[in-house]
Amino acid sequence: MPKTIEITRKAGVVLVRLNRPKQLNALNKELKDEILAELPKLDADSSVRCFVITGNEKAFAAGGDIKEMSTLTYAEASTEDYFADWDTFVNLRTPKIAAVNGYALGGGCELAMMCDFIVAGEGAQFGQPEIKLGIIAGMGGSQRMTKLIGRAKSMDMHLTGRMMMADEALASGLVARVVPDDKVVETAMAAAAQIAEYSKPVTALVRDVVNRADETSLTEGLFFERRIFHSLFATEDQKEGMNAFIEKRKPSFKDK
Ligand code: CAA
Repeated sequence: MPKTIEITRKAGVVLVRLNRPKQLNALNKELKDEILAELPKLDADSSVRCFVITGNEKAFAAGGDIKEMSTLTYAEASTEDYFADWDTFVNLRTPKIAAVNGYALGGGCELAMMCDFIVAGEGAQFGQPEIKLGIIAGMGGSQRMTKLIGRAKSMDMHLTGRMMMADEALASGLVARVVPDDKVVETAMAAAAQIAEYSKPVTALVRDVVNRADETSLTEGLFFERRIFHSLFATEDQKEGMNAFIEKRKPSFKDK
């Protein structure tokens, strides 16, 4: 049984709650190992249709565990390729929504940005304060934040280490929705339940094509999107989705 995360399930939606409240959900090795052990099994389960990742009212996560990292040497960090294994989380094909209350700092902000989109509470605070510790972001912050909010604001966040409130994060494109703090998990779970109704292979392909935009030129990205779009006409779910619309009924997707 995992100790640093709590996993609960509601129909096709899996809620993953980071559970180190005394440490503001700082991401230590044990927590990372538990996420990377449990979530791939759920990702492979066809009845799991969407993840919601959350923390508690005070913190989504206040970053990588500073106490654990304080004695890390360059040789260890480099040889172990420290943090590279978070790619396993990024590459889960099931959609992931981050439901953020309170602090999402350093690795916590980076974990939220690894999710497909972020639902934030009005009191949520985002930041990349690593500069204050004499380091830089190491779980993708410099790249993902820059893609999401642009170079000027990303430089501001990384160089000053300041925090950004939810309203600024919404205006900047870091988060998709801001709702009252006590509605964050409920809103994310409702969005996840909606995603859970769709064809699982199609939701996985939506992630692939949208994420491709970060990796490639517009021409190549459009070509990739069009080829994936064409391929969906080989599926039963496309026929079902379109026939249901024409027949004015709810579609029943079979993941085929
Ligand atoms: N790592 C380890 N422990 C942490 C932590 C972290 N990132 N953040 C908070 N904690 C611990 C504190 O040490 C404290 O523990 P004790 O009670 O044992 O002293 C407990 O959580 C509560 O924290 P505070 O007393 O500091 O709570 P606060 O409300 O006064 O302040 C805060 C909250 C502003 C978020 C403050 O805790 C803080 O600045 N935390 C560090 C944020 C940070 O620098 N994050 C980046 C980490 S490096 C990183 O993430 C690298 C990367 O790219 C992955």
